[in-house]
Amino acid sequence: MDTPQPDAKTVAGLVAEAVTAPSMHNAQPWRFRFLASERVLLLFADLDRAMPRSDPGNRALHIGCGAALFTLRVAAAHAGITPTVSLLPDPAEPLRLAAVRLGGTDPDASEDDLVRLHQAVRRRHTSRYPFDEKDIPEDVRAALRAAADREGAELQFPGPWHVRTILDLVHDAENRDVLHPESAGDLRRWTRLGPEADTATDGVPEYAFGPRMRDGKAPMRDFAGRRPVADRGTASFEKDPHLALLSTPGDGPADWLRAGQALQRVLLEATLAGLATSLTSHALESRDLRLLTRDPVTGRGHVQMVLRLGYGPQGPATPRRSVRDVLDIA
Ligand SMILES: Cc1cc2nc3c(=O)[nH]c(=O)nc-3n(C[C@H](O)[C@H](O)[C@H](O)COP(=O)(O)O)c2cc1C
Repeated sequence: MDTPQPDAKTVAGLVAEAVTAPSMHNAQPWRFRFLASERVLLLFADLDRAMPRSDPGNRALHIGCGAALFTLRVAAAHAGITPTVSLLPDPAEPLRLAAVRLGGTDPDASEDDLVRLHQAVRRRHTSRYPFDEKDIPEDVRAALRAAADREGAELQFPGPWHVRTILDLVHDAENRDVLHPESAGDLRRWTRLGPEADTATDGVPEYAFGPRMRDGKAPMRDFAGRRPVADRGTASFEKDPHLALLSTPGDGPADWLRAGQALQRVLLEATLAGLATSLTSHALESRDLRLLTRDPVTGRGHVQMVLRLGYGPQGPATPRRSVRDVLDIA
């Protein structure tokens, strides 16, 4: 028997949790529509929030929406509602990224394991602070690999020289930005400095930039660039950052949505395990550098995200648009 039909308030609550997901530059490139009579919540891409220079193929946009979709699944499971997801349900409408049926009794759709992750949803924040030079135990790594695997992706912890290569590639990406200042257009649009940082409902506010890097080579995008930020200190970052690569076997819109779901499952598991996390897509924004981030030995999969994990301060919460602005109910 079906569970009772979720009302508008319940759906708004689920969406409020879904939008806590990470997205590139906190652009929040999503919209939701609830079809009450069908008890289906649709997720759409919002192309007004796309990044033409740094994400021309909308790969990162799909990853952010996939992360929101995973968070929606967690929120629904926590509310006792079984979510049944179909990705890209209408080939004629590529912006319709997913249809989530809320409620139902499909035993294969059991999402019981998701409930546990709920407590991490509002605790997870990107941390652009230095982390301790401390190992991540093998059982924690194994749990994170398993989390990615559950969503059809692979999480790899590269060895020391592969980490060096990735750090060099991030550095190359930064140097390219210096040579081609026009490529910083997306960054300028989505960073919030001065008084705007306290009022904006999207973008990366200056209080989330973290300190300027004094030395070390952690893959941290400096959102300030050369712009001054009041009271921003400098700090030394870890010499041997713990990086992880998230990859998928294919490289199309459905793979990117799976990557986003896997990313969020890994981030929530990591948060529960007491880890702080940050992300970088810098080296993945140009095709040539992205290919070089792959494990050169296995050469397997398409790298979708570089994660940095460690023990250290959690980052601050960043703003989100209100549910009113992203959800309509039909
Ligand atoms: C596809 C994608 C790419 C991202 N790339 C970067 C990046 O290059 N550097 C960075 O510091 N954060 C990156 N982030 C993290 C976002 O900036 C972050 O999720 C957003 O500002 C919201 O903050 P929160 O994660 O603390 O909620 C990325 C996130 C996603 C989903």
